[in-house]
Amino acid sequence: GGLKPFFNEAMVDFTRADHRAEFPKQIAAVRQQLGKNYPLFIGGKEVKSADTLPSVNPAKPSEVVGVICQAGTKEVGEAIAAAKSAFPAWRDTAPADRAQYLIKAAAIARRRVFELSAWQVLEIGKQWDQAYADVTEAIDFLEYYAREMIKLGKPKRVGNAPGELNHYFYEPKGVAAVIAPWNFPLAIGMGMASAAIVAGNCVVFKPSGITSVIGWHMVEIFREAGLPAGVFNYTPGRGSVMGDYLVDSPDVSLIAFTGSMEIGLRIIDRAAKVYPGQENVKKIVCEMGGKNAIIIDDDADLDEAVPHVLYSAFGFQGQKCSACSRVIVLDAVYDKFIERLVSMAKATLVGPSEDPANYMGAVADDKAMKTILEYAEIGKKEGHVLYESKVPSEGYFVPMTIIGGIKPEHRIAQEEIFGPVLAVMRAKDFDQAIEWANSTKFALTGGVFSRSPEHLAQARREFRVGNLYLNRNNTGALVGRQPFGGSRMSGVGTKAGGPDYLLHFMDPRVVTENT
Ligand code: NAD
Ligand code: ALA
Repeated sequence: GGLKPFFNEAMVDFTRADHRAEFPKQIAAVRQQLGKNYPLFIGGKEVKSADTLPSVNPAKPSEVVGVICQAGTKEVGEAIAAAKSAFPAWRDTAPADRAQYLIKAAAIARRRVFELSAWQVLEIGKQWDQAYADVTEAIDFLEYYAREMIKLGKPKRVGNAPGELNHYFYEPKGVAAVIAPWNFPLAIGMGMASAAIVAGNCVVFKPSGITSVIGWHMVEIFREAGLPAGVFNYTPGRGSVMGDYLVDSPDVSLIAFTGSMEIGLRIIDRAAKVYPGQENVKKIVCEMGGKNAIIIDDDADLDEAVPHVLYSAFGFQGQKCSACSRVIVLDAVYDKFIERLVSMAKATLVGPSEDPANYMGAVADDKAMKTILEYAEIGKKEGHVLYESKVPSEGYFVPMTIIGGIKPEHRIAQEEIFGPVLAVMRAKDFDQAIEWANSTKFALTGGVFSRSPEHLAQARREFRVGNLYLNRNNTGALVGRQPFGGSRMSGVGTKAGGPDYLLHFMDPRVVTENT
């Protein structure tokens, strides 16, 4: 039967007693399962490796969430070989049949939504609502790409010359390496992998080492959905040990990466080289970092702007590629805006995300904590502290930090910090605000709070980012509604959750028949 039109999954609803009750219940149930060992998954089989890596609860590092086998180059080679041998049959599976596996996977994730969310609270410190939103985004990707592939799977007739029949259609590329970050640990991995799979490619998936247990949930979901062996292979591993090997492999035809600019550019560079035996020029889908700004115009509705900026800057501890890390405030409203922003910040609590009273939780790991604290110190020298919260003594916490007096040339106005440090800049007028907003090498998200139609129109034209938000927060793009991704050093211009996305995972062909 046909599928219903795509619709985003509903968000969690804490006015419902059952939704409120599920989180403590599922967190307690997940706690009973902590510390297990997780194998690799290659060619439909669980595979153990000698090298393992623990993944811990960042709010309580003594709590080991899981111990994950690490793929070395040998295991990655085996996974590539498994994907390669599964490819012909998967390529020749009808697109609509491939799509059905995604629909099944979506149903499985939907059934497990609270449990999968609870794992995120413990493995990466997401707040309840943020964890739930990550799982529903993963479901959305599955449902959306399934429908897109059904559309694209039908050959299109092109041209209108008499006596000639032209068919335009798409074919998958082969083995896809999918390399994911930790910050949207199910949604981004699932999004990239499901796009590759539904388009007919076979995947070697590398989750981040910080969220590999959540990565394992993709194995569980695809296995239960009955995906044929070798179509999805799971090879967590140390980027420094196996990353280059995976990227360099002559049998990999497509790389879908989301992560930092440094690693993304490295992948693009390495993937340009053609090795003996290589059949395809590697295609790269590469989504990278941001240094996103929100502009507060002098007529902005501060009742809206203040909570939205706070949420955009500090939701999930500022660890979203989309997060607001600069707020550019027009001189005329500066004092009023800052006073209100700081007083709202003061009213929030920082502590473990499993307690919903806390607005902000722990950051990803000890390395992230150290880097962010270093940037906070740099910021304190470049500008002055407007607010710095307290933090718990145990766990990878850094204070919620708001720093004023920042100018475009300062480091904390240019470099991605990826944590809860907000740089505040005072602009003399709207033109200057737009100029400053555009003054970094990134172009991912941006926001404007203004009541002036002219300024909003100017922002549409001149504030050149991949996702611009007018009079709302600038995180939480929804599949199908805000296709997501940046340009400049934020990415190569692919839009996850958008109508063009699957095209990057296939080659078009045309067959012309003289009739
Ligand atoms: P990261 O670049 O450190 O790691 C991303 C992935 O690359 C991980 O799986 C990592 O193990 C792997 N990796 C490391 N070295 C590698 C190598 N040499 N070869 C191949 N793979 C290698 O990024 P992260 O810390 O996991 O994620 C945070 C970053 O991701 C931030 O910069 C953020 O802005 C960005 N991000 C961007 C988007 C987007 O859509 N634009 C979305 C989420 C996150
Ligand atoms: N898609 C995520 C967001 O918009 C990154 O926040």
